[in-house]
Amino acid sequence: MDYLKIFSPATVANVSCGFDSLGFAVDNIGDEMTFVKTPHQRVEITNITGADLTYDVDKNAASAVVQKMLQEANADFGINLTIHKGFSPGSGLGSSAASAAGAAFGANKLLGNIYNNIELTKFAMFGEEVACGSPIADNVAAAIYGGFVLIKSYEPLDIIKLPVPNELRVVAIHPQIEVKTKDARDVLPKNIPLKDAVTQWANVGGLISGLHTNDYKLISNSLVDIIVEPHRKNLIPFFDDVKEAAKKAGALGAGISGSGPTIFALCKGDEIAKNVYNAVEKSYRNKGIDFELFISKINHEGIKILE
Ligand code: HSE
Repeated sequence: MDYLKIFSPATVANVSCGFDSLGFAVDNIGDEMTFVKTPHQRVEITNITGADLTYDVDKNAASAVVQKMLQEANADFGINLTIHKGFSPGSGLGSSAASAAGAAFGANKLLGNIYNNIELTKFAMFGEEVACGSPIADNVAAAIYGGFVLIKSYEPLDIIKLPVPNELRVVAIHPQIEVKTKDARDVLPKNIPLKDAVTQWANVGGLISGLHTNDYKLISNSLVDIIVEPHRKNLIPFFDDVKEAAKKAGALGAGISGSGPTIFALCKGDEIAKNVYNAVEKSYRNKGIDFELFISKINHEGIKILE
């Protein structure tokens, strides 16, 4: 194989209660990337569209991942890549993760599939580190594995793919402001009361159990984040209004997607999702901030080969 075109999905990390440990992939939003094998043992980005990102191969999350993989595999070839961003960087929908995970997946194909998904996730985490300073796994693992994932452990890295109830849909609103992941991490408390930790880990357990048993009620009452959201929501204008509108319209729950500013709502079925979409749209209209709105199924398969 010496050419490949892929789709790498956007992802929602944390999923309310699972800070840095839960994530899921979105079906119809993501990046398209191409990979061409070259004889000159260099990695080059030949085109980036859809966003203004660096062509510096050491600083771009995608090329940095490809470079590391070729070096570690002692490859005798190089790769030219193109990146078409299907959604904005800094949105909280795992933009750098989609590129980093897509890069790991694409380079692996040209290397002859020598790495497994855990190894690909580790390479993609390096891309996250290049992009935002922290090697976080939740977005990249969700993009690589598809569906819902649990980062069971970081050291050693252990990822569990979780089932996705059939009728689950996501509505996401991206207010057109940028929240840098680093800033969103800096506002978090270093210590949390034991009582809050107990509530939070019970909700993680409830959410995972709900996913396994198709128990939408349990999913709904587990989509609660009392540790991270109270601090981060102040970075997102009208967060409470959106959350309230989504829940009133029937959403199972709503929260901050990754480090924000995107706000996501999980819904049961297309009809409720459409109502939530309309209610969220109405809640942000006339607020003086541009926004994009998405509605999607959950992506089950992760990164897809297009050509
Ligand atoms: N889990 C991460 C966070 C996702 O919330 O900071 C952002 O990459």
